[in-house]
Amino acid sequence: MDPQGSLTTFMGLEPYELDNIVGSSILDSEAPLAIHQNLYGVDLAPANITLSAVELQLASVMAREARLKLALAGVKDSYDYILIDCPPSLGVLSILSLTAANYVLIPIQTHFKAFKGTELLLNTIKEIKKHVNPQLAIAGFIPTLFSNASQDKVILEALSQQLAPIARIYSPIPRATAFADAAMNRQPLAVYSAKHPSLTVLKEIAIGMDKLK
Ligand SMILES: Nc1ncnc2c1ncn2[C@@H]1O[C@H](COP(=O)(O)OP(=O)(O)OP(=O)(O)O)[C@@H](O)[C@H]1O
Ligand SMILES: [Mg+2]
Repeated sequence: MDPQGSLTTFMGLEPYELDNIVGSSILDSEAPLAIHQNLYGVDLAPANITLSAVELQLASVMAREARLKLALAGVKDSYDYILIDCPPSLGVLSILSLTAANYVLIPIQTHFKAFKGTELLLNTIKEIKKHVNPQLAIAGFIPTLFSNASQDKVILEALSQQLAPIARIYSPIPRATAFADAAMNRQPLAVYSAKHPSLTVLKEIAIGMDKLK
């Protein structure tokens, strides 16, 4: 759901070459989701920059919050998990995503400015629960880009104290160049560097999500 299409690129597709993206089925509820099968063992409904136009076109669509949920309804029974990659802003596309989701996983940089964005997101989640998706639950917070510098440790401690009453705090994902290298190579980290230590954290998250099912 991110018009930047980074995930689409990381999964080996060329976003600009795609005519059919997730936005096509959001705008036209009769159009089936454009699903690319078995990219590194998962299926992907891709995104590209034209998704930002969808955001504008949605202005005149009835019951627009539920449009992604509707688009997923036809395929959701075929999958164990559906991950929705959200855009960085809290606009319409994020609202559609949070309306379609059962759980939210919140990455949060171990940086003092990240607190502010998280507060906004938590308020949006509260509103979504109140008005459109009462079942939505926070599956956890994932501290990211963590370095062992003392400043990061202080921030992680503060984050944990403030957010632990809301949801589980996962182990921090360390800052590591392998993430950028994998992205540049258009591969998931687990494919690019199968023994990378950060994968244990990603596995911990996967197991945590599995327990919620
Ligand atoms: N733990 C990490 N250590 C180092 N670099 C990282 C780490 N996580 C992410 N990055 C770098 O930051 C980039 C963006 O990360 P990611 O895609 O996870 O975040 P995002 O906020 O969703 O970004 P985008 O707006 O591109 O979707 C990655 O391509 C990678 O180069
Ligand atoms: Mg992203």
